[in-house]
Amino acid sequence: MGKNLTRYVCQTCAYESPRWVGKCPNCGTWNSFVEELATKTATRRRTGGSNIAAVPLEDVDIARDHRIVSRLAEFDRVLGGGIVEGSVILLGGDPGIGKSTLMMQLAAALDGLSVLYVSGEESSRQIKLRAERLGVRPTGSFLVLAETNLNVLSDIIDRTPPGVLIVDSIQTMVRPELEAPAGSVSQVRETASLFTKIAKEKSIPVFLIGHVTKEGAIAGPKAIEHMVDAVLQFEGEQHHAYRILRSMKNRFGSTNEIGVFEMREHGLREVANPSEVFLSQRSAGLSGSMVAASIEGTRPILIEVQALVTATSYGVPQRNTTGFDSRRLGLLIAVLEKRLGMSFGQQDVFVNIAGGLRIDEPAVDLAIALSIISSLRDLPPGSETVAIGEIGLGGEVRSVSQVEKRIQEAAKLGFRQIILPTQNLKGLQQPGSASLTGVGSIDEAVRSLFP
Ligand code: TYD
Ligand code: MG
Repeated sequence: MGKNLTRYVCQTCAYESPRWVGKCPNCGTWNSFVEELATKTATRRRTGGSNIAAVPLEDVDIARDHRIVSRLAEFDRVLGGGIVEGSVILLGGDPGIGKSTLMMQLAAALDGLSVLYVSGEESSRQIKLRAERLGVRPTGSFLVLAETNLNVLSDIIDRTPPGVLIVDSIQTMVRPELEAPAGSVSQVRETASLFTKIAKEKSIPVFLIGHVTKEGAIAGPKAIEHMVDAVLQFEGEQHHAYRILRSMKNRFGSTNEIGVFEMREHGLREVANPSEVFLSQRSAGLSGSMVAASIEGTRPILIEVQALVTATSYGVPQRNTTGFDSRRLGLLIAVLEKRLGMSFGQQDVFVNIAGGLRIDEPAVDLAIALSIISSLRDLPPGSETVAIGEIGLGGEVRSVSQVEKRIQEAAKLGFRQIILPTQNLKGLQQPGSASLTGVGSIDEAVRSLFP
């Protein structure tokens, strides 16, 4: 291990130094030096040989982007319809959220493919115990390896390349040439770049599990997001059973698709109809509970939004949200105060999206505003109503996208009244037994909900 094998590079200006320095002598940035393998440039030069030529765009063979379809439909959906061969996918999430479980179930759902599951976190015995608990019975070969030395792993893959490689986790893998410890930016970057090379050269999909802390401080995984083809995030509340798989980056598909799972005694269960699940524990008939229709990716999902407005007991009134942007809540409250003359100066306001879901869509504004009003007045809204609409600063209810899908989902689940933006009404079909109420402002919406 040594000086001539690795070097330290300033991440701001690319200044190189044979040893670590606290402050870059070139650009003056502090703590910007990261250890890198010195041989990297040499290899790059060698591979940049003369037998490589640019090709006309029309001759590029895209049929080679074969997708492997698993039996985990929710997983395939998030990736845009299956796993692209030779792609590198980073799966991030809090420790204990279920990443290893998800990967093992995926491994078992890949019919007839050979899977190599490399773990630096658990022994082969622990992996086996988990597999038994999950009751996974892979149809192809399922090899496990407890190893953290990437050079050893790389040799094994050279000898017998697997059909799919799963690495649990990227933070435990090391290239021993580097002095930096496992999980450091240097190690994570070097190991990820070697995994990328393996994926591209051998055309096998590689899944890299990466731990993310609650604060989102993912020094390691964050540093490799640009190298990988897709970044998936597995999230959910530790105490809720629901888990959402989100795509944050996807070179082969859209990024707003989500997959919904439920963590059970024997592993994750796919949730094909999220609306039914998210509404199943609804506090219908209570004040402060409304149903919103959100679109996640291509799917409409009905969710319960809850608000609780109570008198502030001391000092500054609280504004607290779970699963919803707190600044957006502040804005909605300001609109209610200004346009409806309501007063929240002495009220704490709590907003919660039920089921541990996180919603960033403005189309849920109306449902949230109505739930706040319902709680403030202690008036339960009808339990058969869904509210759709974005709220503008003037208190106007603005049109939303994909309104048909939202309405259909609401009608399918038996809701009788749908409050929606007037502008969205044009050309809409009456959906079965549900009645459509168009509203132009929050004021009108309140009057139609509490006649
Ligand atoms: P795990 O996949 O080990 O999480 P990660 O790899 O993201 O750290 O899952 C850990 C949690 O999931 C653990 O708290 C136990 C729970 N769990 C179940 O509830 N059911 C199961 O069948 C399994 C395997 C785990
Ligand atoms: Mg794990």
